[in-house]
Amino acid sequence: MKKHVVITGGATGIGRAITEFLYHQGFTPIVIDRLEPNHHDAQNLSSLSCLYLQADVSHADSVAQAFTTMRNHLEEKTKTTQEQHILHALINNAGITRDGLALRMSEKDWDDVMSVNIKGTFLCCQQALKIMIKQPKSYIVSLASVVGIHGNPGQTNYAASKAGVIALTKTLAQEYASRNILINAIAPGFISTPMTEKLSPETQTAIKERIALKRFGSTLDVAQLVYFLISGNADYITGQTIQLDGGMS
Ligand SMILES: NC(=O)c1ccc[n+]([C@@H]2O[C@H](COP(=O)([O-])OP(=O)(O)OC[C@H]3O[C@@H](n4cnc5c(N)ncnc54)[C@H](O)[C@@H]3O)[C@@H](O)[C@H]2O)c1
Repeated sequence: MKKHVVITGGATGIGRAITEFLYHQGFTPIVIDRLEPNHHDAQNLSSLSCLYLQADVSHADSVAQAFTTMRNHLEEKTKTTQEQHILHALINNAGITRDGLALRMSEKDWDDVMSVNIKGTFLCCQQALKIMIKQPKSYIVSLASVVGIHGNPGQTNYAASKAGVIALTKTLAQEYASRNILINAIAPGFISTPMTEKLSPETQTAIKERIALKRFGSTLDVAQLVYFLISGNADYITGQTIQLDGGMS
């Protein structure tokens, strides 16, 4: 049986690390990202035998079209290889920030973050669940954030969207437990990405002081936790949000 995993926002950053790690663990990744297919980050996914689907997770039609293409692809593969191809897991990773203090935040910045982070997560779950309810066992993992638990000045929109991802995770886990669909979230703290590299050395030191392990997390740390949750070794965990923050205070 070939196990396919859809990773949204899988062309770059944390999503890219998840895509590559899962590929090396024997899963077949399918990336949904808004980047043009001829963008170099999309193009070089071909080395992972990865199906790349350009879509905007914040638009229902775009998500539905991507999942239809994916379903047809799995059905075709099952027919031609005489091996079953299933949607093993969905990883909701696509997310954006539009930071600003609440008094100055535009309606557009609020709406854009909500549309991608929470509505996009919901739309992808809805499409994946239609396929997953017909399978014996499947998984959904969504990327939340520690700021969705603790809040963070300058990120009302982002923090609220990630708190929404946590609530959506708990609710869907209860709705689909009877179908053996295990649904969890990961709340990373500071993960080393181009974004954290842009912080001044002083800010980086100040942040690390608040982390018990005194370092930022890596994209590999996130990928390994995603793998654990969908590996079959964590099948009594559902509806949870696992903080991956090195012990932040
Ligand atoms: N980087 C961190 O320290 C950190 C911490 C906590 C949580 N997170 C969460 O982890 C996830 C990944 O973060 P990252 O730092 O790798 O981000 P990133 O900006 O590096 O990558 C995001 C990816 O999502 C894609 N994307 C954005 N909007 C999209 C849309 N509407 N439709 C389809 N694809 C879209 C982008 O093209 C990109 O490939 C996000 O959900 C983020 O909120 C990140």
